[in-house]
Amino acid sequence: MYHMSNKSKKLSTDAYKGVRDFFPKEMAIEKKIFDIWRTTVETYGYEEYSASVLEPSELYRAKSGEEIVNEQTYTFTDRGDREVTLRPEMTPTLARMVAAKKRELVFPLRWYSIPNLFRYEQPQRGRVREHWQLNVDIFGVESTNAEIETINIACDIMRAYGLKDTDFEVRLNNRKIMDYITRDIYSLNEQSAHKLSKLIDKKDKIKTEAFKIGANEILGNNAQSFLTLLNSKNFEDFVSNLPQTKEETSSGSYDLHTGLAEIRAVIDGLEKLGITNIRFDQTLMRGFDYYTGIVFEIFDLNPINHRAVFGGGRYDDLLSLFGNEKVSAVGFGTGDVIARDLMETYNSLPVSNPSADIAIIVIGEQNTPYALELAKSLRSKKIRVVIDLSKKKISDQIKNADKKSIPRIICIGDEEVKTGKLRVKNMTTGEEIISSEDTISL
Ligand code: HAM
Repeated sequence: MYHMSNKSKKLSTDAYKGVRDFFPKEMAIEKKIFDIWRTTVETYGYEEYSASVLEPSELYRAKSGEEIVNEQTYTFTDRGDREVTLRPEMTPTLARMVAAKKRELVFPLRWYSIPNLFRYEQPQRGRVREHWQLNVDIFGVESTNAEIETINIACDIMRAYGLKDTDFEVRLNNRKIMDYITRDIYSLNEQSAHKLSKLIDKKDKIKTEAFKIGANEILGNNAQSFLTLLNSKNFEDFVSNLPQTKEETSSGSYDLHTGLAEIRAVIDGLEKLGITNIRFDQTLMRGFDYYTGIVFEIFDLNPINHRAVFGGGRYDDLLSLFGNEKVSAVGFGTGDVIARDLMETYNSLPVSNPSADIAIIVIGEQNTPYALELAKSLRSKKIRVVIDLSKKKISDQIKNADKKSIPRIICIGDEEVKTGKLRVKNMTTGEEIISSEDTISL
């Protein structure tokens, strides 16, 4: 049993490290962000799904990637000795759900969700230990039209945050190209290829010298040619820097050609939709092991928000984890933390909406029943009404209504109860309209 003695230390009012409390002001912003997400994705015909925050830990071991699983998950053993993880991302849960009902579902399947996710990260600007993430995924489309559609949705969301196309950039890469480079050009085994991709992923976070040392360790004599390739200025430059090592017919070469063609197709397709702020980025890796093709991220060009706003890609093999055959899948995630930062940077945070349309001020306790009845009748007309139940002085009650920016007040005293004549006062103009219970409207 819990026992609180007078001597016991007072509990801290701080939230747990790296997680947030949402007071009403923050919650209003959060609601606005979710509203942008929902309305945008629903115009593309996506359906919402959800699931529990708890998953068996093994779900993440296979494909989420070592860093996420070993360093960033909240994992514990439950009372039945099962290893359980608070989900750090939604994609494995989604793959599990789609695999479970695959026969009944109609493809192409367009689904979205707004889960709360948990990652044990070092809290810093743009990164917390708990965040809400919009997930948008499409299953059953083999062509790059799936990438084009999802990136198009992401761009619509960026615009809804208040950014112009010139304020942000879509960066693209393709795992197939990276696979070709590591396997066919540099003949790396799977482990070294994996190490190299993690090194590239860290490129911007470590010193140039440390990066070179890492590349040397993995690639030896090939490190220099790799650095030249990695430093290519643009897509054409990158293509011309690619060492041609294998005959045309090898599977590696096939991967390369498909990889390059997919990049071109996505860039062309988006250009046709008017999206030109898009570029190939050979250093873009993405941390998850499940991606199999195009990967993309979206960045605000204002350096104050230097973290990726969106991250996603194609993951055609993930469903095979559950014994099913392959299902083409493309999707992205985007978080609420960066959404808020962007809306702050671009001055598009929502203006706060008062909590009620009318405040009823009660003068004299004996008039409370009448006030309650009046409130009930107004609410039935969808008017949002709050009654001050504080028994404070009238002037204090009016001041409080004003502090909360409630636009209208009605004072209820003996006179009003007797006559049924109600004065609705507009708090901005000071104007009063005499009405009866039945005629009050906004
Ligand atoms: P992700 O890149 O790990 O991808 O996360 C996507 C987005 O979620 C990031 O760009 C960022 O906006 C936000 N985010 C991630 N971690 C944090 C954090 N600790 N604090 C605040 N915001 C964060 C995925 O999670 C993939 N599962 C996305 C996906 C869906 N791929 C295919 N479908």
